[in-house]
Amino acid sequence: MEKEPIIALDFPSWEQTKQFLAPFHQEQLYVKVGMELYLQNGPFIIEQLKKMNHRIFLDLKLHDIPNTVGQAMKGLAGLGVDMINVHAAGGVEMMEKAREGLEAGAKNGQRPILLAVTQLTSTSEKAMQADQLISVPLHDSVLHYAKKAKTAGCDGVVCSVLEAGAIRDACGDTFFKVTPGIRLKEGSADDQKRIADPAEARKIGSTAIVVGRPITKAADPVAAYHHVKALWGGQA
Ligand code: C5P
Repeated sequence: MEKEPIIALDFPSWEQTKQFLAPFHQEQLYVKVGMELYLQNGPFIIEQLKKMNHRIFLDLKLHDIPNTVGQAMKGLAGLGVDMINVHAAGGVEMMEKAREGLEAGAKNGQRPILLAVTQLTSTSEKAMQADQLISVPLHDSVLHYAKKAKTAGCDGVVCSVLEAGAIRDACGDTFFKVTPGIRLKEGSADDQKRIADPAEARKIGSTAIVVGRPITKAADPVAAYHHVKALWGGQA
């Protein structure tokens, strides 16, 4: 289990990211760079965060034909990030190529951890059935994608806390369950639908939690981070 909650750096620019990180001083963090930040600023962002010794989850959720995803992963592996992901909906062959690409591009023989996104935590069962024409319950769809991700050689999945226990039972303890959709009991859900608090995530068996707005939009982000970290670690 990761000790640090992974902070989602959902900002448009390096300036805003730097401003957010400044009050954390020298504290070493595990941060998530998603498409908002990466697509507007590129590898520069990763270089800066690595200079600050932060660990990095590059959350680009790749989903394309197997060859394209494989080649993209080969390039991205060279950035030296710790964790990266694809959409499981891209299929087993695409996930296999993603892993092969990471292995081919890895620096010093150390490839990033590869995760597959199952169903987004902002997706409700009703929306999944209507938009994706998947008629099984959402829980079954998530479990199905997790098994496919394991078959393809992914190290784990991104899922909601609500599915983490069933995925642990089906795919094993060492299979990563990285869970966004984390909210404090007193906070707002925003656009997230399948939510849980950090203590629930710990009890159910998340490997790592991803927390964005409950920290980034807090009046005091450093205090909010330490509160989340304490709940996640079982110290609060
Ligand atoms: O602000 P919030 O805590 O909702 O941020 C959650 C982060 O996790 C966002 O960056 C979002 O893109 C990401 N994410 C998610 N659900 C997934 C995969 C990633 O919310 N299934």
